[in-house]
Parts: sequence; C-alpha cells; structure tokens
Amino acid sequence: MPDTSIPVIAIDGPSGSGKGTISQIVAQELGWNFLDSGALYRLVALAAQQQRVSLDNEATLARLALHLNAHFISNAHLKTELTGVEATVTLDDRDVTRELRSQECAEAASRVAALPEVRVALLDRQRAFRVAPGLVADGRDMGSVVFADAALKIFLTASVEERAFRRHKQLIGKGMNVNIPLLEQELAGRDARDCGRSIAPLKAVPDAVLIDSSNLSIKEVVQDILSLWQNTPFKSQTLT
Ligand code: DC
Repeated sequence: MPDTSIPVIAIDGPSGSGKGTISQIVAQELGWNFLDSGALYRLVALAAQQQRVSLDNEATLARLALHLNAHFISNAHLKTELTGVEATVTLDDRDVTRELRSQECAEAASRVAALPEVRVALLDRQRAFRVAPGLVADGRDMGSVVFADAALKIFLTASVEERAFRRHKQLIGKGMNVNIPLLEQELAGRDARDCGRSIAPLKAVPDAVLIDSSNLSIKEVVQDILSLWQNTPFKSQTLT
C-alpha cells in the first residue's frame, strides 16, 4: 500500500501544455520522484502493436497493461539548469524511449486510454510511484482519480495553436518531421477523445489551480508551481 502521508503534486492538462517538461523540472527541483502516466498508456499501445492485439480488444489490453514488463530509468543526473530530462523507458528489456514519442503511438495511446479496464489495470502501478520524499505526477486524471488526495493539484492549459507550435518544435528537435496544421488537427482530436470519454475524462477538478501557460515561459510556470507548493498547508504540516 502506498503511504498516503507522502506528498503528491498532481499536474494534469491536455497534450502539449508543457506538463511533461514542467513536471519533470518541478520533480528535479524538489528532489522527488516523477510519474509520466501518459507513458504507461503509450507502453500499452506499443505492447499491443508488438503482440498484434487489436485496440478494440479491451480484456486482452487490460491484461497487457497489468503485466507490462516496463521500466523507467531516470536520467535526472544529466540535467542542465531548468531542462527536463526524459527517463529511458524499456519494454521487455528493449529501449523504446523514442518509439513511445511517435505520433502513431500517441494516437493509439489515446484509444487504449479510453478503455475502462485498461485504466483500472494501471491504477496500482501508478500509485506505486508514490515513494518518499514525494511525487510529481503528470497526466490527465492525477488529481481527479489516481491521487485524488494530492496536496497540490495543478491544471495546466495552453491554446491549441501554442500547443501545436511547441509540439512541432519538440518533434523537429528529435529529428521527426511533421507540419503544424496537421499537429493542430491531431491535438484537437485527442483533446476531444480525452475530454469526452466516459471514464476519467480530462477535466479540472474544483480544487485544482488553473495555469494557462500560453504566454508563460517554462521557468515562469515552474516558479509558480514551486511557490504554490511553498504555500500549501500540507507542506507547513510536514515542517511542524
Ligand atoms: O501525456 P501523453 O500524450 O503521453 O498521453 C498519451 C495518451 O494517454 C493521451 O491520449 C492521454 C492519455 N492519458 C490518459 O488518459 N490519462 C493519463 N493519466 C495520462 C495519459
């Protein structure tokens, strides 16, 4: 059983809001663990593709999710100032870090993430990341479902145009070639699926702090979150 006295900062929001990078940096700044929950859905999609399991076969996909042989190897020691450093991810002992980031994998992940049995199968694995001294959890339902008792909940958004622009820059940097209008279309489609599904839809819970990062730098958002954390009651309790 994960220890619920261990603090969690839940950071939810749509694709491309900067959540991933920002959550990684916040975790590094605090010296906490980091959960990239989207990577788990991407891993299920990749495992399904490798084992030729149809994305409609919910029961088999849930079994795959439950028994994923996946590992996250932190590269936080490689960080330079205010840069998030992605973990290396392995699936069945093979490095799949790059494959996980492809548009094809993102699309398939969005489909498997809409399946209730898959979401339930991934709950314990996500909660196992709650290890001292704390956890920064990045996803869509961190504050609403997986860590509903999180000490601090952030809902990070940005306009679809800004998100497409950022994703374009990120993919180009990784040597992948895509155009902005297509990215906008794909982001809007994934938003609609992530927000419209019946189970754990992407939504800001009432106790989340809303941050629109459209006109903010990564550094500004990180600073906002760190100062919100400095002022959360949970933090004061642990200090007294
Ligand atoms: O954050 P990401 O792009 O890596 O997420 C991949 C897909 O998984 C995306 O369509 C949303 C979904 N997802 C989810 O439903 N719940 C989460 N906690 C994390 C991601």
